[in-house]
Amino acid sequence: MSVLVLIIGYIAAYRITNQAPSDQLTLNRQVSKVLETGGCMMCHTPSAHLPFYASWPIADKLISQDVKMGMDAFDMTYLGLCLKNNELRPNEVDIAKLENVAQNATMPPIQYAAVHLGASLVPDEANALLAWTKRNRIVYYTSPLTSKDMMNEPLQPITYVKVDTAKVELGEDLFNDLRLSADSTISCASCHGLKTGGVDNKQYSEGIRGQKGGINAPSVYNAYFNFVQFWDGRALTLAQQAAGPPLNPVEMGCESFAEIIERLEADKEFSSRFKAVYPEGITELTITDAIAEYEKTLITPSRFDAYLRGDSCALTASEIQGYELFKKFDCAICHVGKNIGGQSYEKFSLQGDYYSDRTHRVSDATLNVEDNGRYKQTGLDYDKNRFKVPSLRNVALTYPYMHDGTIQNLSEAVSKMVLYQTVKKIRFSDTDKIVIFLHALTGDSIATKNPAE
Ligand code: HEC
Ligand code: HEC
Ligand code: HEC
Repeated sequence: MSVLVLIIGYIAAYRITNQAPSDQLTLNRQVSKVLETGGCMMCHTPSAHLPFYASWPIADKLISQDVKMGMDAFDMTYLGLCLKNNELRPNEVDIAKLENVAQNATMPPIQYAAVHLGASLVPDEANALLAWTKRNRIVYYTSPLTSKDMMNEPLQPITYVKVDTAKVELGEDLFNDLRLSADSTISCASCHGLKTGGVDNKQYSEGIRGQKGGINAPSVYNAYFNFVQFWDGRALTLAQQAAGPPLNPVEMGCESFAEIIERLEADKEFSSRFKAVYPEGITELTITDAIAEYEKTLITPSRFDAYLRGDSCALTASEIQGYELFKKFDCAICHVGKNIGGQSYEKFSLQGDYYSDRTHRVSDATLNVEDNGRYKQTGLDYDKNRFKVPSLRNVALTYPYMHDGTIQNLSEAVSKMVLYQTVKKIRFSDTDKIVIFLHALTGDSIATKNPAE
């Protein structure tokens, strides 16, 4: 196997971070002021202080609707904390959202600005927001590999991760090892095929004895870069995630890790190789640690990364146009950063109602348990239909789409996103260009084609 080594330094990041902190303080103060004048915090934090007219019968309904939709789209609580506390790292998605509003003056809503004279963003205010978003993006999120022109892009080139190669080798074997399942029929790779974009291309994965789960399998490629794992974020790390499938009754179906350890220990060759790397021996923690270490190598740079690193010929003219449209249609306020997603939970179906429009069949398990995303973990109304934003790397290969796996083709997935996640309308020709761009996100090493396209 190819061994990935640490190829990047953090020199550039350090250079930028070492600027005078007073810049950040001034910018924080300016941005707080803009958010205050614009009424942003009123509609975008839960402890909203509604204005006096909110108690008027008609205004009441309009305003509470605005606050609900505003909160669904963007909770600024954490951003507010970052503006008060210099030590906190702002979220990459918050940065992209604020930048988008500053560039396009879409907020505050017209009906609000009509009543609150002076609430609309004036150029100086927009510029203050843009100075803040640029600084914070570059300090915290720009990759050292990014070309100078691309440092303030919402999407950033992917980077390799330092790994322990001995652990990686064990992890790779375990990832492909059928003994992790109760009847030795299923390995991680059964559902996360590395030749098929890190997924199984099924609506729902099939576990032992042909059992089906209730949610579409995301890719293992680049999963390391997600801020949490699973659609509902129930695992915080890859190692924690890897402890799930072996004991999941519809996936690998083991009673306990003891059962797996016994099988692996019976293999003298494997177990002595294992002990040479992990002196503590084969345990749940060492198994999942090795798998997680291996997953850190499943990183897939594409032509788009070469483009962000400064090779302007790496993309075709239509792909570049597609990228510009991807930003224009607000895709890059949720699908951000190195992983082009995976940095926040976002409400699915912000506009319209995906759920009642859905005509494709979904399983009972989906309807009962998986359909509401993060809500399953927190029970909070706010988290209903909120999902970890999927990464769009290799998305051309990872069909079918959405948590319910109901959408076969990428073009349809893009149209649905415009319809349910943005306030915009799109022409077919623009959808096509975005799709062309998304194809350029397929990793150089795994390029194959979706037969459904
Ligand atoms: C009266 C309530 C209200 C105020 C005030 C308000 N918003 Fe919003 N905001 C909304 C609503 C409603 C949405 C949902 C999308 C839509 O209807 O455009 C939204 C969506 C957003 C979004 C996500 C969509 C996008 O356009 O990028 C951002 C970011 C945002 N607001 C930022 C701001 C900022 C910054 C301010 C202050 C300058 C602000 N909002 C003021 C209600 C408000
Ligand atoms: C039976 C099919 C199946 C098997 C076997 C399986 N997975 Fe998965 N995997 C899934 C499904 C389905 C999900 C999504 C579940 C959810 O989000 O609730 C998932 C989610 C993940 C994720 C999270 C990715 C993300 O973007 O959130 C990772 C990482 C992962 N699996 C790795 C593994 C590893 C490692 C193994 C072996 C120990 C494994 N999987 C075994 C089907 C499978
Ligand atoms: C407000 C945040 C937000 C915006 C804006 C947004 N997305 Fe998404 N996107 C999501 C979420 C959340 C999901 C997961 C939805 C689900 O499966 O329930 C998703 C899913 C997807 C998927 C399916 C991925 C998969 O593996 O199943 C594609 C493709 C996609 N988005 C593309 C886009 C494009 C293109 C745009 C711009 C037109 C866009 N998104 C705008 C949040 C967003």
